[in-house]
Amino acid sequence: MSNPIINFDNLKIVDTPEKHQKFYIETYGCQMNVADSELVVSILQNSGFAYSAKMEDADLLLINTCSIRDNAEQRVFGRLDIFRLMKKKKPSVLIAVIGCMAERLKTQLLEVEYKVDIVIGPDAYRNLPLLIHQAEGGQKSINVLLSREETYADISPVRIGSNHVSAFISIMRGCDNMCSYCVVPFTRGRERTRDPQTILNEIKNLSIEGYKEITLLGQNVDKYFWEKDQYGFADLLKHAAEIDSSMRIRFSTSFPKDLTDRVIETMAAYPNICKSIHLPVQSGSNRILELMKRGYTREYFMQRVESIRKHIPDCAISTDIIAGFCSETEEDHQETMDLLRSVKTDFAYMFKYSERPNTYAQRNFPDDVPEEIKTRRLSEIIDLQNQLALVSNQNDIGKTFEVLVEGFSKKSKLNLFGRNSQNKVIVFPALNYKTGDYVQVMVESCSSATLKGKSV
Ligand code: 5AD
Ligand code: SF4
Repeated sequence: MSNPIINFDNLKIVDTPEKHQKFYIETYGCQMNVADSELVVSILQNSGFAYSAKMEDADLLLINTCSIRDNAEQRVFGRLDIFRLMKKKKPSVLIAVIGCMAERLKTQLLEVEYKVDIVIGPDAYRNLPLLIHQAEGGQKSINVLLSREETYADISPVRIGSNHVSAFISIMRGCDNMCSYCVVPFTRGRERTRDPQTILNEIKNLSIEGYKEITLLGQNVDKYFWEKDQYGFADLLKHAAEIDSSMRIRFSTSFPKDLTDRVIETMAAYPNICKSIHLPVQSGSNRILELMKRGYTREYFMQRVESIRKHIPDCAISTDIIAGFCSETEEDHQETMDLLRSVKTDFAYMFKYSERPNTYAQRNFPDDVPEEIKTRRLSEIIDLQNQLALVSNQNDIGKTFEVLVEGFSKKSKLNLFGRNSQNKVIVFPALNYKTGDYVQVMVESCSSATLKGKSV
């Protein structure tokens, strides 16, 4: 997953009494973190704090953090240096580290050199106003308790950075997979499912507000299960799709061992469920998959891919790959390359293995693939994926797709961009179309990253 900085620029600033602080928030990491920041803004606004789009105007600086790889954490430490400079200029400024790094590093972040005032983990956001008031009184505050129940189901996210077209909806929290390399089960706690009624209500409200696309989020959406009603992810997808046939439904992330045919059949049955599935495989070698404790083999993964192809021939498939996991040989690496060629993945997030403290892999396997070999393997994987994406895009030339417009193209205000159901970006002349429109676009040319076409 990429690590965007999200600045919530177009938020309405609510009028609050002067005694209340203005807060500024930056978000790193995955889409779950973006959704969490929207909850945090809601919690703070409801307690009388006011949002500030500019760091310079705020007296409370929040950073929502990611621990997934060491470079994600280093980036956050870099931003904290800037936050500290602000505090030096204005000593009343409070700094809050929230999210996965707060959970992983706990009281370490309160050591003097960091100058952090508040540390709060992903399940304790309701406590934020209280902790801020404690910190205002000069007391450093921390809450990193993980919960088995918290889903923030009753909190309406404030969708600040949004283009009012697409919204994320968190449907579950935590992760019980315990993949050997991954820190997420430690930072986000046990898996739990949010009450389906609250999710469906949120979708209804977004539809009324004019949103056109929602993405249901969870670390492993296939494990979504609401015990009381024996209600699973396929049920949720079906009911979500039936709310508004002009609203697109996406979801992320699927886990290969848990992805059922029922979910695939539900995707196939509803035109507004997007034909795109993100199915992280991590490696094409059975030996490495076992060391990673992924719970499936290469053959099982390929059989899931075949089922997707059978039910949804035009479905895009994307994946995640880790290059250079502990003990990975050249042969293992070639098996990953070979798997990507067989699946013909449309898109992939690709990473070098980064050892994370206290994971099973860190405790049991040496991180023994030399850095230069990791780098070389990763670049081979990236080159291959670019070729596969180019071929996939070339196959789209001459086809017409329904595109949901997201805004103006970065390169030219004469063009708009949006995505098709397969989640591919398409650029086309703006004419009189606008953000939020569905436009039929015929593809005329492409690069490995983008399709270009014209409305028809
Ligand atoms: N090192 C490198 N990549 C990792 N991921 C998770 N943990 C690590 C790690 N320790 C990748 C996986 C996962 C994605 C979200 O991040 O590919 O699917
Ligand atoms: Fe998201 Fe995982 Fe990063 Fe936490 S560690 S922010 S769950 S990607």
